[in-house]
Amino acid sequence: MDALVVEDLSKRYGPTAAVDGLSFAVPKGSVCGFLGPNGAGKTTTLRILFGLTRATAGRAEAVGRVSGVLDRDGFHPARTARDELALAARRNGKGDADAALAKAGLEAVADRKIGACSFGTRRRLALAAALLAEPEVLLLDEPATGLDPHALRALRGQLRDHAERGGTVLLSSHVLDEVAATCDRVVVVAQGRRVAEGPLDALLAQRIRLRSPDAHELLGALKQNGLDATTDGPGTVIVSGADPDQVGRVVRDSRAILHEMSTQGALEALYVGITEAS
Ligand SMILES: Nc1ncnc2c1ncn2[C@@H]1O[C@H](COP(=O)(O)OP(=O)(O)O)[C@@H](O)[C@H]1O
Ligand SMILES: [Mg+2]
Repeated sequence: MDALVVEDLSKRYGPTAAVDGLSFAVPKGSVCGFLGPNGAGKTTTLRILFGLTRATAGRAEAVGRVSGVLDRDGFHPARTARDELALAARRNGKGDADAALAKAGLEAVADRKIGACSFGTRRRLALAAALLAEPEVLLLDEPATGLDPHALRALRGQLRDHAERGGTVLLSSHVLDEVAATCDRVVVVAQGRRVAEGPLDALLAQRIRLRSPDAHELLGALKQNGLDATTDGPGTVIVSGADPDQVGRVVRDSRAILHEMSTQGALEALYVGITEAS
Protein backbone atom coordinates (compact mmCIF):
# COMPACT_ATOMS: atom_id res chain seq x y z
CA MET A 1 0.00 0.00 0.00
CA ASP A 2 1.27 3.47 -0.82
CA ALA A 3 1.32 5.96 2.05
CA LEU A 4 2.15 8.84 -0.22
CA VAL A 5 1.36 9.46 -3.88
CA VAL A 6 2.54 12.28 -6.12
CA GLU A 7 1.00 12.27 -9.58
CA ASP A 8 1.69 14.61 -12.48
CA LEU A 9 2.49 17.32 -9.96
CA SER A 10 3.42 20.76 -11.27
CA LYS A 11 4.13 24.05 -9.58
CA ARG A 12 4.95 27.21 -11.49
CA TYR A 13 6.29 30.45 -10.06
CA GLY A 14 5.78 32.83 -12.96
CA PRO A 15 8.11 31.58 -15.69
CA THR A 16 9.83 29.05 -13.37
CA ALA A 17 8.60 25.47 -13.31
CA ALA A 18 9.68 24.48 -9.77
CA VAL A 19 7.97 21.09 -10.18
CA ASP A 20 7.22 19.83 -13.66
CA GLY A 21 4.98 16.77 -14.04
CA LEU A 22 6.48 14.86 -11.14
CA SER A 23 5.15 11.40 -10.21
CA PHE A 24 6.28 8.93 -7.55
CA ALA A 25 4.87 6.85 -4.73
CA VAL A 26 6.22 5.80 -1.33
CA PRO A 27 5.00 2.47 0.11
CA LYS A 28 3.84 2.40 3.73
CA GLY A 29 6.63 1.42 6.13
CA SER A 30 9.51 2.71 4.06
CA VAL A 31 12.08 5.44 4.53
CA CYS A 32 12.45 7.13 1.17
CA GLY A 33 15.26 9.51 0.25
CA PHE A 34 14.34 12.47 -1.95
CA LEU A 35 17.47 13.45 -3.84
CA GLY A 36 18.35 16.07 -6.38
CA PRO A 37 20.51 19.12 -7.01
CA ASN A 38 19.67 22.55 -5.60
CA GLY A 39 16.57 23.96 -7.23
CA ALA A 40 15.31 20.53 -8.33
CA GLY A 41 11.94 21.11 -6.64
CA LYS A 42 12.31 19.01 -3.48
CA THR A 43 11.28 21.66 -0.96
CA THR A 44 8.40 22.76 -3.16
CA THR A 45 7.12 19.18 -3.38
CA LEU A 46 7.37 18.74 0.40
CA ARG A 47 5.58 22.04 0.98
CA ILE A 48 2.75 20.92 -1.31
CA LEU A 49 2.50 17.58 0.54
CA PHE A 50 2.34 19.55 3.79
CA GLY A 51 -0.44 21.73 2.47
CA LEU A 52 1.70 24.89 2.75
CA THR A 53 1.85 25.53 -1.00
CA ARG A 54 -0.86 24.98 -3.58
CA ALA A 55 -0.02 22.92 -6.67
CA THR A 56 -0.54 24.41 -10.13
CA ALA A 57 -1.62 20.99 -11.44
CA GLY A 58 -1.65 17.33 -10.46
CA ARG A 59 -1.95 15.82 -7.00
CA ALA A 60 0.17 15.09 -3.95
CA GLU A 61 -1.48 13.10 -1.20
CA ALA A 62 -0.42 11.40 1.98
CA VAL A 63 -2.55 8.81 3.75
CA GLY A 64 -3.16 9.59 7.42
CA ARG A 65 -1.65 12.13 9.76
CA VAL A 66 1.27 14.08 8.33
CA SER A 67 3.87 15.99 10.27
CA GLY A 68 7.50 16.88 9.77
CA VAL A 69 10.18 19.49 9.67
CA LEU A 70 10.63 21.98 6.86
CA ASP A 71 12.88 25.03 6.93
CA ARG A 72 11.15 27.03 9.67
CA ASP A 73 10.47 25.40 13.03
CA GLY A 74 8.38 28.27 14.47
CA PHE A 75 10.17 28.06 17.81
CA HIS A 76 10.48 31.19 19.94
CA PRO A 77 14.07 32.03 20.97
CA ALA A 78 13.05 32.96 24.53
CA ARG A 79 11.26 29.69 25.27
CA THR A 80 13.07 26.62 26.56
CA ALA A 81 13.27 23.32 24.71
CA ARG A 82 10.85 21.78 27.22
CA ASP A 83 8.39 24.72 26.80
CA GLU A 84 8.33 24.20 23.03
CA LEU A 85 7.73 20.45 23.28
CA ALA A 86 5.03 21.00 25.92
CA LEU A 87 3.36 23.49 23.55
CA ALA A 88 3.59 20.98 20.69
CA ALA A 89 2.07 18.29 22.94
CA ARG A 90 -0.81 20.59 23.86
CA ARG A 91 -1.41 21.47 20.20
CA ASN A 92 -1.54 17.79 19.29
CA GLY A 93 -3.64 16.86 22.30
CA LYS A 94 -1.15 14.09 23.09
CA GLY A 95 2.41 13.31 24.05
CA ASP A 96 4.68 14.27 26.90
CA ALA A 97 7.48 16.82 26.61
CA ASP A 98 9.93 15.09 28.96
CA ALA A 99 9.35 11.67 27.39
CA ALA A 100 9.93 13.20 23.95
CA LEU A 101 13.15 14.88 25.13
CA ALA A 102 14.39 11.59 26.58
CA LYS A 103 13.54 9.68 23.40
CA ALA A 104 15.44 12.20 21.31
CA GLY A 105 18.40 12.09 23.72
CA LEU A 106 17.94 15.80 24.48
CA GLU A 107 17.38 15.75 28.28
CA ALA A 108 20.52 17.85 28.74
CA VAL A 109 19.04 20.80 26.85
CA ALA A 110 15.54 20.65 28.40
CA ASP A 111 15.96 23.98 30.21
CA ARG A 112 18.02 25.70 27.53
CA LYS A 113 16.46 28.61 25.68
CA ILE A 114 15.87 27.96 21.97
CA GLY A 115 17.94 31.04 21.18
CA ALA A 116 20.96 29.40 22.86
CA CYS A 117 20.58 26.05 21.06
CA SER A 118 22.84 25.12 18.16
CA PHE A 119 21.33 24.71 14.70
CA GLY A 120 21.65 20.92 14.97
CA THR A 121 19.97 20.81 18.39
CA ARG A 122 17.16 22.96 17.09
CA ARG A 123 16.63 20.54 14.18
CA ARG A 124 16.50 17.63 16.61
CA LEU A 125 13.96 19.45 18.77
CA ALA A 126 11.84 20.14 15.71
CA LEU A 127 11.88 16.44 14.84
CA ALA A 128 10.96 15.53 18.43
CA ALA A 129 8.04 17.99 18.21
CA ALA A 130 6.92 16.48 14.89
CA LEU A 131 7.04 12.95 16.33
CA LEU A 132 4.81 14.03 19.25
CA ALA A 133 1.92 14.13 16.76
CA GLU A 134 2.41 10.38 16.18
CA PRO A 135 2.25 10.94 12.42
CA GLU A 136 1.71 8.19 9.89
CA VAL A 137 3.79 10.11 7.37
CA LEU A 138 6.86 12.12 8.33
CA LEU A 139 8.19 14.72 5.87
CA LEU A 140 11.70 16.05 6.49
CA ASP A 141 13.55 18.65 4.46
CA GLU A 142 17.32 18.15 4.72
CA PRO A 143 17.19 16.63 8.23
CA ALA A 144 20.87 15.64 8.20
CA THR A 145 22.10 19.22 7.73
CA GLY A 146 24.08 20.54 10.69
CA LEU A 147 24.07 17.26 12.65
CA ASP A 148 27.22 15.79 14.19
CA PRO A 149 27.89 12.02 13.82
CA HIS A 150 26.14 11.15 17.10
CA ALA A 151 23.07 13.11 16.15
CA LEU A 152 23.10 11.55 12.67
CA ARG A 153 23.11 8.10 14.20
CA ALA A 154 20.28 9.04 16.56
CA LEU A 155 18.28 10.43 13.63
CA ARG A 156 18.78 7.22 11.68
CA GLY A 157 17.52 5.21 14.68
CA GLN A 158 14.44 7.41 15.08
CA LEU A 159 13.51 7.10 11.42
CA ARG A 160 14.00 3.33 11.37
CA ASP A 161 11.85 3.03 14.53
CA HIS A 162 9.14 5.07 12.88
CA ALA A 163 9.20 2.83 9.79
CA GLU A 164 9.25 -0.37 11.87
CA ARG A 165 6.07 0.76 13.58
CA GLY A 166 4.49 1.03 10.12
CA GLY A 167 5.17 4.73 9.61
CA THR A 168 6.50 6.24 6.40
CA VAL A 169 9.25 8.82 5.91
CA LEU A 170 10.14 11.04 2.95
CA LEU A 171 13.36 12.95 3.53
CA SER A 172 15.26 15.21 1.19
CA SER A 173 19.02 15.19 1.43
CA HIS A 174 22.32 16.09 -0.15
CA VAL A 175 24.24 13.80 2.19
CA LEU A 176 24.32 10.73 -0.01
CA ASP A 177 26.07 8.41 2.45
CA GLU A 178 23.45 9.29 5.02
CA VAL A 179 20.71 8.45 2.53
CA ALA A 180 22.42 5.16 1.71
CA ALA A 181 22.59 4.28 5.41
CA THR A 182 19.07 5.37 6.33
CA CYS A 183 16.76 4.88 3.38
CA ASP A 184 15.40 1.77 1.74
CA ARG A 185 14.16 3.65 -1.33
CA VAL A 186 15.07 6.77 -3.25
CA VAL A 187 13.43 9.17 -5.65
CA VAL A 188 15.86 11.30 -7.63
CA VAL A 189 14.61 14.56 -9.18
CA ALA A 190 16.21 17.11 -11.47
CA GLN A 191 14.55 20.23 -12.83
CA GLY A 192 11.23 19.30 -11.27
CA ARG A 193 11.07 15.87 -12.88
CA ARG A 194 11.75 12.35 -11.69
CA VAL A 195 14.93 10.85 -13.09
CA ALA A 196 15.09 7.66 -11.00
CA GLU A 197 12.96 5.87 -8.44
CA GLY A 198 13.04 2.55 -6.66
CA PRO A 199 14.45 0.40 -3.89
CA LEU A 200 17.98 1.50 -3.00
CA ASP A 201 19.27 -2.08 -3.25
CA ALA A 202 18.06 -2.42 -6.81
CA LEU A 203 19.46 0.96 -7.86
CA LEU A 204 22.81 0.38 -6.18
CA ALA A 205 23.25 -3.24 -7.17
CA GLN A 206 23.85 -1.82 -10.60
CA ARG A 207 27.17 -0.43 -9.37
CA ILE A 208 29.67 -2.29 -7.24
CA ARG A 209 32.84 -0.71 -5.94
CA LEU A 210 35.94 -2.81 -5.31
CA ARG A 211 39.16 -1.81 -3.61
CA SER A 212 42.16 -4.00 -4.19
CA PRO A 213 45.97 -3.79 -4.28
CA ASP A 214 45.61 -5.92 -7.43
CA ALA A 215 43.13 -3.54 -9.06
CA HIS A 216 44.83 -3.75 -12.44
CA GLU A 217 44.60 -7.57 -12.61
CA LEU A 218 41.09 -7.46 -11.22
CA LEU A 219 39.98 -5.00 -13.87
CA GLY A 220 41.38 -7.29 -16.57
CA ALA A 221 39.64 -10.36 -15.13
CA LEU A 222 36.29 -8.56 -14.86
CA LYS A 223 36.51 -7.31 -18.45
CA GLN A 224 37.52 -10.76 -19.68
CA ASN A 225 34.32 -12.08 -18.12
CA GLY A 226 32.31 -9.57 -20.10
CA LEU A 227 31.62 -7.21 -17.19
CA ASP A 228 31.44 -3.43 -17.54
CA ALA A 229 34.34 -2.48 -15.27
CA THR A 230 36.30 0.76 -15.03
CA THR A 231 38.84 2.25 -12.63
CA ASP A 232 37.81 5.05 -10.33
CA GLY A 233 41.03 6.25 -8.79
CA PRO A 234 44.05 4.19 -7.68
CA GLY A 235 43.20 0.75 -6.35
CA THR A 236 39.52 1.16 -7.07
CA VAL A 237 37.32 -0.60 -9.64
CA ILE A 238 33.66 0.14 -10.37
CA VAL A 239 31.50 -2.52 -12.00
CA SER A 240 28.24 -1.43 -13.60
CA GLY A 241 25.16 -3.49 -14.31
CA ALA A 242 26.36 -6.72 -12.69
CA ASP A 243 25.00 -8.66 -9.76
CA PRO A 244 27.23 -9.10 -6.66
CA ASP A 245 27.40 -12.92 -6.97
CA GLN A 246 28.75 -12.66 -10.47
CA VAL A 247 31.37 -10.08 -9.44
CA GLY A 248 32.29 -12.14 -6.36
CA ARG A 249 32.93 -15.23 -8.48
CA VAL A 250 35.25 -13.35 -10.82
CA VAL A 251 37.13 -11.93 -7.80
CA ARG A 252 37.53 -15.44 -6.35
CA ASP A 253 38.73 -16.95 -9.62
CA SER A 254 41.15 -14.08 -10.23
CA ARG A 255 42.66 -14.69 -6.77
CA ALA A 256 43.09 -10.92 -6.39
CA ILE A 257 43.29 -9.69 -2.81
CA LEU A 258 40.19 -7.71 -1.97
CA HIS A 259 40.18 -4.92 0.62
CA GLU A 260 36.59 -3.90 0.07
CA MET A 261 33.56 -4.76 -2.02
CA SER A 262 30.54 -2.56 -1.49
CA THR A 263 27.88 -0.34 -2.91
CA GLN A 264 29.09 2.47 -0.59
CA GLY A 265 30.10 5.48 -2.62
CA ALA A 266 28.20 3.89 -5.47
CA LEU A 267 25.21 6.08 -4.65
CA GLU A 268 27.31 9.13 -5.44
CA ALA A 269 28.36 7.67 -8.78
CA LEU A 270 24.76 6.74 -9.58
CA TYR A 271 23.48 10.15 -8.50
CA VAL A 272 26.06 12.13 -10.46
CA GLY A 273 25.47 9.89 -13.48
CA ILE A 274 21.72 10.32 -13.59
CA THR A 275 21.52 13.98 -12.65
CA GLU A 276 24.18 14.91 -15.22
CA ALA A 277 22.50 12.85 -17.92
CA SER A 278 19.16 14.62 -17.39
N1 LIG B 1 8.33 31.01 -3.45
C1 LIG B 1 9.02 30.92 -4.61
N2 LIG B 1 8.97 31.90 -5.52
C2 LIG B 1 9.64 31.80 -6.69
N3 LIG B 1 10.41 30.77 -7.04
C3 LIG B 1 10.52 29.75 -6.17
C4 LIG B 1 9.84 29.78 -4.91
N4 LIG B 1 10.12 28.62 -4.25
C5 LIG B 1 10.95 27.93 -5.06
N5 LIG B 1 11.18 28.61 -6.20
C6 LIG B 1 12.03 28.14 -7.33
O1 LIG B 1 11.61 26.82 -7.66
C7 LIG B 1 12.72 26.00 -7.95
C8 LIG B 1 12.72 24.79 -7.03
O2 LIG B 1 13.02 25.20 -5.73
P1 LIG B 1 13.05 24.22 -4.48
O3 LIG B 1 11.76 23.47 -4.43
O4 LIG B 1 13.39 25.04 -3.29
O5 LIG B 1 14.23 23.23 -4.85
P2 LIG B 1 15.15 22.29 -3.91
O6 LIG B 1 14.50 22.19 -2.58
O7 LIG B 1 15.22 21.00 -4.64
O8 LIG B 1 16.48 22.95 -3.84
C9 LIG B 1 13.96 26.87 -7.83
O9 LIG B 1 14.27 27.35 -9.12
C10 LIG B 1 13.48 27.99 -6.92
O10 LIG B 1 14.21 29.17 -7.17
MG1 LIG C 1 15.26 22.59 -0.69
